[in-house]
Amino acid sequence: MLLMTKAHHSTMVRLGSLCCKGPRGLSPWTGVCQFLQTSQKIIQFASGQEPQPGDTIIYVAGAFDLFHIGHVDFLEMVYKQAERPYVIVGLHFDQEVNRYKRKNYPIMNIHERTLSVLACRYVSEVVIGAPYAVGKDLLDHFKVDLVCHGKTEVFPDKDGSDPYAEPKRRGIFRSIDSGNNLTTDDIVQRIIENRLQFEARNQKKEAKEMAVIEAMKRREARGSRKGKFFIL
Ligand code: C5P
Repeated sequence: MLLMTKAHHSTMVRLGSLCCKGPRGLSPWTGVCQFLQTSQKIIQFASGQEPQPGDTIIYVAGAFDLFHIGHVDFLEMVYKQAERPYVIVGLHFDQEVNRYKRKNYPIMNIHERTLSVLACRYVSEVVIGAPYAVGKDLLDHFKVDLVCHGKTEVFPDKDGSDPYAEPKRRGIFRSIDSGNNLTTDDIVQRIIENRLQFEARNQKKEAKEMAVIEAMKRREARGSRKGKFFIL
């Protein structure tokens, strides 16, 4: 965060390529599905519940980096959109997040972000390495009833298109006001400001200490000159 290094993005593991359900949904290793779901891989952290008939399947996507209270408030509001909600969170891979958030984001890698989101009580399941555009395949595969996004900016896809174009076309997109303005960027800015204040305070302290040391040295030098005079 403070060094603004990008090196941690180069070792990204593409979990998406491991995510395959066979054509008849039998093998998790073969087939064509590109979505890695928590129910297949790390079920112990998810609710472990498949969606039931009558559940409203709600899909949200994002980085969910440095998982914070703004995210929790958003997910709570999403959860409250239906009587029987089944909330699926699509998490973008590190390189995807870096493409649209730039700088050295994300601070937390895909594994850390997955575990943070799964720990939230409003979340039923996580899609690891979700495609940026919420397209037809994803909506049909998960039988999504509703797609939500908060009030934060929606960054365009690589080709400049709206990632929510398909849910908007289907009339299942909803903008949610979390009532909370906190963002990951705010937290990073806070940490950077604290670091700068800490450095400035240390520089002042060091300057004072150096002044005392210099004064002590001068006094010592005067004392030793006087000492020599007496000996002579
Ligand atoms: O920025 P990030 O991709 O982590 O956001 C994930 C989702 O949480 C987005 O839909 C965003 O609009 C929402 N959010 C929110 N209120 C906040 C922070 C994030 O609604 N304070």
